[in-house]
Amino acid sequence: MNKLLHKKQMAQNVTEYTFNAPDVVRNAKAGQFIVLRVDQKGERVPFTIFDYDKEKGTLKILVQTVGFSTQKLSRLNEGDYVSDIVGPLGLPTDLSFAKKVVLIGGGIGAAVIHPQSKVLKKANIDVDVILGARDSSLIMYEEDFKKYANNVYVMTDNGSLGEKGNVVDKLRYLIETGSNYDVVFAVGPLMMMKAVSNFTKTYSLKTIISMNSIMIDGIGMCGGCRLTVGGETKYACVDGPEFDAHLIDFDEAIMRSRLYQEEEKACRLRGEKND
Ligand code: FES
Repeated sequence: MNKLLHKKQMAQNVTEYTFNAPDVVRNAKAGQFIVLRVDQKGERVPFTIFDYDKEKGTLKILVQTVGFSTQKLSRLNEGDYVSDIVGPLGLPTDLSFAKKVVLIGGGIGAAVIHPQSKVLKKANIDVDVILGARDSSLIMYEEDFKKYANNVYVMTDNGSLGEKGNVVDKLRYLIETGSNYDVVFAVGPLMMMKAVSNFTKTYSLKTIISMNSIMIDGIGMCGGCRLTVGGETKYACVDGPEFDAHLIDFDEAIMRSRLYQEEEKACRLRGEKND
């Protein structure tokens, strides 16, 4: 059982949760994830580790309330308990070879790049951050990122915050005006990551993305996170969640992700009736 210590609404349908989870955070590293069950009958749901404090034994995750289990989680109050949290899982990120990195977070993708920004700052690696979203209500942690990054750029589709445009527009501008990044690390919707990857391919610029969004049970049992990387079959939860973007078959991943949308909708409706 893990106690929910703190709950904070960050955007519409996006909540930051802080749990007491000393055993999980003891060995946690940026890029890894946990699997949480709200109650004993609940499904196992993977979440990226957003932040952790090893001394206090606390773990933060950022959750978009979109499905049955995340709705159940959203109904918990501070002081309540979840059944269990397992982790850390997945391979940690290693950007120690880099000299200058640009982190790109689309919407809730900010949750994945956040721990990276802290690690890079600590390692004295230059880092810029580009945050992108549909509108200002989905831009999160801008001030927080300023503590770790040299520059934080905000892009919104409608121009309601930062500049009007998307993250690729900004990346193109930065590269064309001399920002000599050696790694791009991008996390967000599959379409966004595909667009970033297609763009950086033209510069042969190393690009890493996280496929955390396609994971379902997170423990290698369901097969839901299967993807093709460099012509080989991989599983995001076991072999990733991070991969070389230029090797990923994004079209296949996008098609597979759509297969589960109907199932999730049906599950949500069934759950609402039984709750
Ligand atoms: Fe189920 Fe990877 S998430 S096999």
